[in-house]
Amino acid sequence: MITTGAQQAISLCAQLLLEPGVGVAVENPGYRAAGCAFGLTGATVHGVAVDSEGLDCTALAALQHCRMAYVTPSHQYPTGVVMSLARRLELLAWAERSDGWIVEDDYDGEYRYSGAPLAPLAALDRSGRVLYVGTFSKVAFPALRLGYLVLPKQLVEPFSRARALMVRHSEAGTQAVMAQFMAQGHFQRHIRRMRRAALSRRNALIAGWPVDIPGVGALPEMVAGLHVKVDVDNPERERWLVEKALDAGVELNGLGDYWLPGAVDKTAGLVLGFAAVGESGIAEALGKLRKVWRG
Ligand SMILES: Cc1ncc(COP(=O)(O)O)c(C=O)c1O
Repeated sequence: MITTGAQQAISLCAQLLLEPGVGVAVENPGYRAAGCAFGLTGATVHGVAVDSEGLDCTALAALQHCRMAYVTPSHQYPTGVVMSLARRLELLAWAERSDGWIVEDDYDGEYRYSGAPLAPLAALDRSGRVLYVGTFSKVAFPALRLGYLVLPKQLVEPFSRARALMVRHSEAGTQAVMAQFMAQGHFQRHIRRMRRAALSRRNALIAGWPVDIPGVGALPEMVAGLHVKVDVDNPERERWLVEKALDAGVELNGLGDYWLPGAVDKTAGLVLGFAAVGESGIAEALGKLRKVWRG
C-alpha cells in the first residue's frame, strides 16, 4: 500500500489494529511520533528498553494484553542499535505466540556503510505478523510525502477498504514520476550517490569530533543511518551541552527528547544528525562546539 510517508503507514496500523484497553510496545527511547499515533487510539503505550541487541523481548513478553510491538531494527531510532538476528527471531516468536503484530519501521535502511545488512523481520516472518513500513523521506526528501506499507496477505483487504474511506487513494502524480525514475535506472544510482554523500559526512563528523569534553563519550561505531547517539554522563550535563550548542547556532538534540513521559532509568546523550550538512559545515559546527563546550 502506498502512503504519504512512514507516518501515515504507522497511523493506519494504529487505527486498524489497536483499540482502547489493548497494549502496544514501543522502543524507549524511541520515535515519539509513533508512540503518539498509537496513543491516539486509546491503547496503552508501554515503553520497552533497548539494549545492545535491540528491543528487550523478555520485558515485552512480560506485558499483559500487548497486541503490537513497534520497532526500528535496521537502525534503532535514536540509539542507532542494529537488532541482532537472535533478537529478531525472539521478537517473531513473541508475535506468533501471542497473536501480536510487529510494525517494522525501516525508515533509513538504505544507509548502511559496512557489513551485509541483516534480513528485515518481514523477510523472516513465516506467519504473517509483520507490517513493514518504508519511506522515501531519507533517500529523497521528507516533503515528497511518499512511503509504503508491505502487509501480510490477510491484512491487504481490510487496510485497502479502510484507506479508501479515509483518503480514497494515494496521489498518483508523484508515484508516476518516481516509477519512471526507477524504471530508467536513476533511483539505484541516486541511492548510491546519497550513501556516498552520507558516508563522507559521517567521516567528517568522526574526524572532527571533540574527544576531551568532560562528561561526553566517544563517538560509537557508525555502521548505518544518518544520525548517531553519543553518551553523556547525566541529564544536567546533557541539557547544558544542548543549550550551549544552540546558543552557538548548532542544532542537536538531547536524548531526553526521546523518552516516554515517566520513564525511569533514563540515560543521557546527544543525538547528532549528520546527513543534511556538507563536510565543511560539519567541520565549522564542530569548531564552534569545541569552543563553547570547553569554554
Ligand atoms: C524512526 C522514524 N520513522 C518514521 C519517520 C517519518 O518518516 P516520514 O517522513 O516518511 O513520515 C521518521 C522521520 O524522521 C523517523 O525518524
